[in-house]
Amino acid sequence: MRWLDERDESEIPGTIRKLWIGEAKSFREHLLRLDSDSRRSRFGSPVNEFFISNYAARALGPNSVVHGFFADGILRAAAELRPFGRGFPAEAEAAFSVEQDYQNHGVGSALLDRTILAAKNRGVRTIYMSCLAENRRMQAIAKKYEADLRFEADEVVGEVANTGPTPLSLMREWIADGHGYATAILDVQSRMLRTA
Ligand SMILES: CC(C)(COP(=O)(O)OP(=O)(O)OC[C@H]1O[C@@H](n2cnc3c(N)ncnc32)[C@H](O)[C@@H]1OP(=O)(O)O)[C@@H](O)C(=O)NCCC(=O)NCCS
Repeated sequence: MRWLDERDESEIPGTIRKLWIGEAKSFREHLLRLDSDSRRSRFGSPVNEFFISNYAARALGPNSVVHGFFADGILRAAAELRPFGRGFPAEAEAAFSVEQDYQNHGVGSALLDRTILAAKNRGVRTIYMSCLAENRRMQAIAKKYEADLRFEADEVVGEVANTGPTPLSLMREWIADGHGYATAILDVQSRMLRTA
């Protein structure tokens, strides 16, 4: 099993941080930029703009953890972790979306790292990653984390066994959050300077 400390995120072409509730618009714009194949792979079937707008408006709720990948300050990929039920649920579902130009650069793998870490720190023991059977790329990144892939009709459900939080895993998430916060502030400042 690989964890965040074993992956070198410096190789990905941007930065990863958690999305805030107020970033639904950026999330919506990212989902709308997905090409039709990626959109279908992300949602399991073709979906229209109306569906995506409604989805994005509700996606950044208090129970979800959504990591975003930013290149030049623009959200280009996201990983959603959505626990089933309230309180401290042991099961959650995860979903990933990487815009076409950023696919195959390690972004999805880095987002899966962060998602597993967030799940571990919240006591989630099983993460379901539902993807179409033909989605070899998603299966390839899930296999890196020893996900046990089980085939159901035309879907693949990946279950990642989790052992629960440790002081080290909690510290890794805090450090990543601190770094993400600092990066977000720098992004805002550099955009303000560019428009000034
Ligand atoms: C699936 C997805 C999340 C993967 O993210 P990504 O950033 O492209 O993935 P990475 O670059 O981290 O890794 C891709 C891996 O797949 C492998 N791969 C690429 N094409 C492949 C193929 N046709 N068959 C098998 N493996 C393939 C790559 O070699 C790489 O593995 P490696 O790191 O061992 O070399 C992304 O492509 C995406 O968002 N697709 C559209 C939406 C989607 O399918 N979401 C998943 C369902 S929720």
